[in-house]
Amino acid sequence: MRELLLCPPDYYGIEYEINPWMSRARGTESELAKSQWEGLRQALASLDSKIELVPPQPKLPDMVFTANAGLAVGRKFIPSNFRYPERAGEAPYFRHWMEEHGYETIWLPDNLYFEGEGDALFSNDILFCGYKFRSDIQSHRAVGELLRCLVISVELADPRFYHLDTCFCPLPDGSVFWFPNAFDEYGQRAIRAHVKELIDVEEEEAKHFSCNAVVLGRDIVLPEGAPNLVKTLANRGYQCHELPMSEFIKAGGACKCLTMFLPQREAVE
Ligand code: ARG
Repeated sequence: MRELLLCPPDYYGIEYEINPWMSRARGTESELAKSQWEGLRQALASLDSKIELVPPQPKLPDMVFTANAGLAVGRKFIPSNFRYPERAGEAPYFRHWMEEHGYETIWLPDNLYFEGEGDALFSNDILFCGYKFRSDIQSHRAVGELLRCLVISVELADPRFYHLDTCFCPLPDGSVFWFPNAFDEYGQRAIRAHVKELIDVEEEEAKHFSCNAVVLGRDIVLPEGAPNLVKTLANRGYQCHELPMSEFIKAGGACKCLTMFLPQREAVE
């Protein structure tokens, strides 16, 4: 059974703009956000998972996006060094929670930006890491050394897909579904060279954050709006659970960003 970390949306809202999806003028509907988040929590809880909750904090509206808390592998936890000061205040709360739950915290040098599981996803034993908009490429080497695993760094090329988990989703059979144009040419080549099977998501569906999915064995929880992808995944034996996520997409996130794996996987060695 997988353990997942979520953060209730009590203080969620659009209070600043740090990615192209966010508009303070437009804002979010907080009651609708609460019910969408509750829908996610229930969908995940009904699958093979145990949900843990970190207490939300006032004035940290993006704390709901726990994928950016850091990266947990085995009993090690590498906290994020957030690029934007607007989110940096989240780090001590996540660290505290992880230490209370038995994780050993290992900080990266504080001059290296790193936004956790949002930019770092394992496919088999390879840790794919995205960089440019949020994480620094230099942080990847440090993460690889700490975890003693092979890291493939890929540059993100489209500001709408500013974290790796917005455009890249590994599946347990070793395949990955992804939106290729979110990566520069070299990144696309690196991914093609290291992933045995790739499922391309068309732009119209990728725009609905359909790669931002939580995969629990054969179950995939993803935002609604990707009928073709859902068909493809169903043909491969996956069961998709499509959820309304409009209020979180307004902040540039959806199902996966709202979830961190505890841990993402066991230690590599
Ligand atoms: N508003 C948040 C930010 O810009 C959204 C984070 C989404 N998280 C993710 N893992 N893609 O930081």
